[in-house]
Amino acid sequence: MTQSWTPASWRNKPIRQVPAYPDPAKLAAMEGKIASYPPLVFAGEARRLKAQLASVQEGRSIVLQGGDCAESFADFNANNIRDTFRVLLQMAVVLTFGASLPVVKLGRMAGQFAKPRSSETETVAGESLLTYRGDIINGPDFDPASRIPDPARMEMGYFQSAGTLNLLRAFASGGYADLHEVHRWNLGFVERSPLAARYREMSSRIDETLRFMTACGMTSANTRELRETDFYVSHEALLLPYEQALTRIDSTSGDTYACSAHFLWIGDRTRQPEGAHVEFLRGVRNPIGIKVGPSTDPDELLRLIDILNPTDEPGRLTLIVRMGADKVEKLFPPILRAIRRDGRRVAWICDPMHGNTISTAAKVKTRNFDAILSEVRSFFDVHAAEGTWAGGVHVEMTGREVTECVGGAHRLTEADLGDRYETFCDPRLNAEQSLELAFLVAEELKNRRHPDTAVAAQ
Ligand code: PEP
Ligand code: CO
Repeated sequence: MTQSWTPASWRNKPIRQVPAYPDPAKLAAMEGKIASYPPLVFAGEARRLKAQLASVQEGRSIVLQGGDCAESFADFNANNIRDTFRVLLQMAVVLTFGASLPVVKLGRMAGQFAKPRSSETETVAGESLLTYRGDIINGPDFDPASRIPDPARMEMGYFQSAGTLNLLRAFASGGYADLHEVHRWNLGFVERSPLAARYREMSSRIDETLRFMTACGMTSANTRELRETDFYVSHEALLLPYEQALTRIDSTSGDTYACSAHFLWIGDRTRQPEGAHVEFLRGVRNPIGIKVGPSTDPDELLRLIDILNPTDEPGRLTLIVRMGADKVEKLFPPILRAIRRDGRRVAWICDPMHGNTISTAAKVKTRNFDAILSEVRSFFDVHAAEGTWAGGVHVEMTGREVTECVGGAHRLTEADLGDRYETFCDPRLNAEQSLELAFLVAEELKNRRHPDTAVAAQ
């Protein structure tokens, strides 16, 4: 029998990845405070996103989800928000053209602060401290005081999310996201790229299309779709005291929503069907994601789907597959077939980042651009072979010129990683690598749709 759900029912379930707050009274006081604050998103927005994700399931659009592995308090400024937003828009234009379909834009932004970790402690030069779990929990500096989980960080996380979301909303509807402008930025990227010759063809086709639309009378002044964009935010629902505190009943529908973000996902380490994270997300009506890693058992995934989407509601579930470039062809098809055989309605997207993290000889975490691209291609191949819809990509990226992933057109090597290695957690694609990935994926999409007019065939 299913037990009745409340925003607090997760507290009676086994929980993983939970921070050890030393002062429960301080934690409870902070939860009460955040529970009294305004929601960050409106339930109607989450419903609209759910409808758009339903169209992804049906093969009528694709998703681009991207942003930091972990946002940080130290990097909170307008330039960072603008640059990541801008690159996501640039990627989305290219993908829209490649797929000839709408792209649902979903930032890992405005709340992506809490991180699951593989060990409880970190040891440096013989000293062991609690691991860093993301800025909303503890601090990244390697000293005992900053590693103690501090509930006051939740309030900072809330206000930083509010500030980020405010700027994103202004950019999305205030003129910054104008399609012509975004395309002009892409032209700049193409000219700087060592692969300019390859990308120029697609960018000049986009150019021509925009000029044709203008000639037909569709301009930014008279067409909202050219002037503005829809942009949604998402993060991993890991820190449940914070998520519970931002849960609200929607006055329009009477339903319960997590109001910390439009879309929340369950990480690969916390997707136990009987666990606390699944319990919490079961009762909120937002669209949600589940990370599907190499340890996924198809039957267990079916159980999870039953628990999280018992009525098979369209748009409710997005499965984010992150197997690793060398494993996806073997491990993904049995899972895909099991879900399809059962007739379950889900959207499938590819996270080509988390199964491709490697450590250099100098013990620096990195990812290889070629492995990332290869996992995306294999993911598309598997869907093509099974006759199912590859619904998009989920990437860790930033708008800045960091040096965290190796490879790409500028051929970053392990020796370059020291130049600008700035991530607080996993290595991200930089602006150029992100756009390059978008161009290459767009080529794939286009070639698969129209093999007769293949662009940049090699
Ligand atoms: C993440 O998306 O940052 C993450 C930790 O992913 P996963 O749960 O797939 O390991
Ligand atoms: Co990550």
